[in-house]
Amino acid sequence: MEIREFRVSDAPALRALWARSGIRIRPGDDDVSLGLFAARNPGLFLVGLEEQELVASALAGWDGRRGWLYHVAVSPERRRRGIAVRLVRMLEERLRVLGCKKVNLIVWEDSADAMRFWASIGYQRERAIELSKVLE
Ligand SMILES: CC(C)(COP(=O)(O)OP(=O)(O)OC[C@H]1O[C@@H](n2cnc3c(N)ncnc32)[C@H](O)[C@@H]1OP(=O)(O)O)[C@@H](O)C(=O)NCCC(=O)NCCS
Repeated sequence: MEIREFRVSDAPALRALWARSGIRIRPGDDDVSLGLFAARNPGLFLVGLEEQELVASALAGWDGRRGWLYHVAVSPERRRRGIAVRLVRMLEERLRVLGCKKVNLIVWEDSADAMRFWASIGYQRERAIELSKVLE
């Protein structure tokens, strides 16, 4: 599998991958926002391709205090081949080099497979509640 950084032209195929993976398309997932995210986080917005088809994604943001992981997804027919763990390990290493000491992410409550994935690669559930607000 080829792993490279996101290009804005990937955005439609990425959103299709996320939709097929049960990832809700949310604020931040339009072309402009994805391009901004990639520009702010060089080397931390990765896509995986097989035979030119976009089959995986993993994004990390570094805000100077925490690393945040987003949209780790692998197309359904290519799962359980170690693709996600490979992408996450790459991002962890790049965050570590930037000085990041702790990585956070959000898992939706109904994502049992995702919970098993994260637990198997060393992520622990926190006793915290996520709050959010959409800025108009
Ligand atoms: C979660 C997801 C990214 C895992 O991708 P993947 O490439 O299949 O994962 P890997 O092959 O790297 O799995 C690594 C390990 O995680 C665990 N794991 C992964 N998926 C699992 C599942 N469905 N059930 C149980 N354990 C699982 C296993 O221990 C696995 O190692 P093994 O295959 O040797 O047993 C993929 O299932 C996916 O895209 N799901 C939908 C989107 C999603 O929920 N993303 C997470 C958002 S928080």
